[in-house]
Amino acid sequence: MIRQYNIVTILRKEVLLSEQKKRAPRNRTITLTTAEREQFKTHLVRLDGPAALAAITNKTICQDVFAVLQWLPSHSVDLLFADPPYNLSKSFNGRAFSELPPDQYEEWLDGWISELPRILKPTASVYICGDWRSSSAIHRVVEKYFIVRNRITWEREKGRGAKSNWKNSSEDIWFCTVSPDYTFNVDAVKLKRRVIAPYTTEKGEPKDWNESGNGRFRFTHPSNLWTDLTVPFWSMPENTDHPTQKPEKLLAKIILASSNEGDVVFDPFLGSGTTSVAAKKLNRRYIGVEIDEYYSCLAEKRLMQAEIDSTIQGYVEGLFWERNSLAKQKKPTKTRDNRKTNQLTLI
Ligand SMILES: C[S@@+](CC[C@H](N)C(=O)[O-])C[C@H]1O[C@@H](n2cnc3c(N)ncnc32)[C@H](O)[C@@H]1O
Repeated sequence: MIRQYNIVTILRKEVLLSEQKKRAPRNRTITLTTAEREQFKTHLVRLDGPAALAAITNKTICQDVFAVLQWLPSHSVDLLFADPPYNLSKSFNGRAFSELPPDQYEEWLDGWISELPRILKPTASVYICGDWRSSSAIHRVVEKYFIVRNRITWEREKGRGAKSNWKNSSEDIWFCTVSPDYTFNVDAVKLKRRVIAPYTTEKGEPKDWNESGNGRFRFTHPSNLWTDLTVPFWSMPENTDHPTQKPEKLLAKIILASSNEGDVVFDPFLGSGTTSVAAKKLNRRYIGVEIDEYYSCLAEKRLMQAEIDSTIQGYVEGLFWERNSLAKQKKPTKTRDNRKTNQLTLI
């Protein structure tokens, strides 16, 4: 069994470059000074034996996930989100991973996915990310252990064009559950859509739509095609130098739909901390594992910042906004009954 992804070389130069990079004044990328790194290192956890849930709740475990999974408590996780290295040659802070033959990548996936059923609650949901190359391997492995419910495809705006191929502008997320009994808060992620054909009843009343200050809207069920996400870039406050950072908004959708406040959200490939940060902002508990110390410290810095600023870009007052619509979004105001609503809006 392949326990270790193909680690080719370790070049610490990249961390130094990231710390010393000169940035434009409006660049909001989150970085770490040497002093901050020393400070956040003290927050990180390492496991060498069985851990109680309380000891690892709201923590970042800085270790190889293959060494950690065996020590996690049984049936303790409500929602798992995994964004593993895809089957590409890529460097994560100098730790370079090289593409594997497809059958070996599948074996590597099986090496950690097979350990998940023990740590998940019987009511848990599982989301696993992949690009088009890794997606079929992920499907084959997850259907061995879980009930596969759907494949979400989301559009990435970023990416290089290709001269003799179609530009890669999408990624998949496989959605699975442990059993037929699981959480799905559809009302928390419904889409608020502008109504083009405002049908009325015989009495002239709106059919399935409402009139509000800036137009006619209908709440519709969210689909498995997501086109409202922006991959973090330099002027976004959530941006870091992590090469494959996911948007907080993507995690917010998954967390709101597939968990409840207080639930435990686990990410075995935490990267810059997006899953834990979104979970914290949405009042869930979280556990993350990340092999790289620099990324683990970045996650801790973002978690500290989330205590002061719990906003999620593109998600305002319980409503999700279409990408690049910052100018159209209202400043947060309290709703009449002082409650937050959790609907999605595409305006
Ligand atoms: C695709 S990235 C995750 C990015 C993350 N979703 C974010 O938003 O920042 C995969 C991460 O897994 C980490 N990783 C790779 N192999 C690992 C292992 N065996 N154990 C723990 N983490 C690992 C890499 O360092 C990298 O940060």
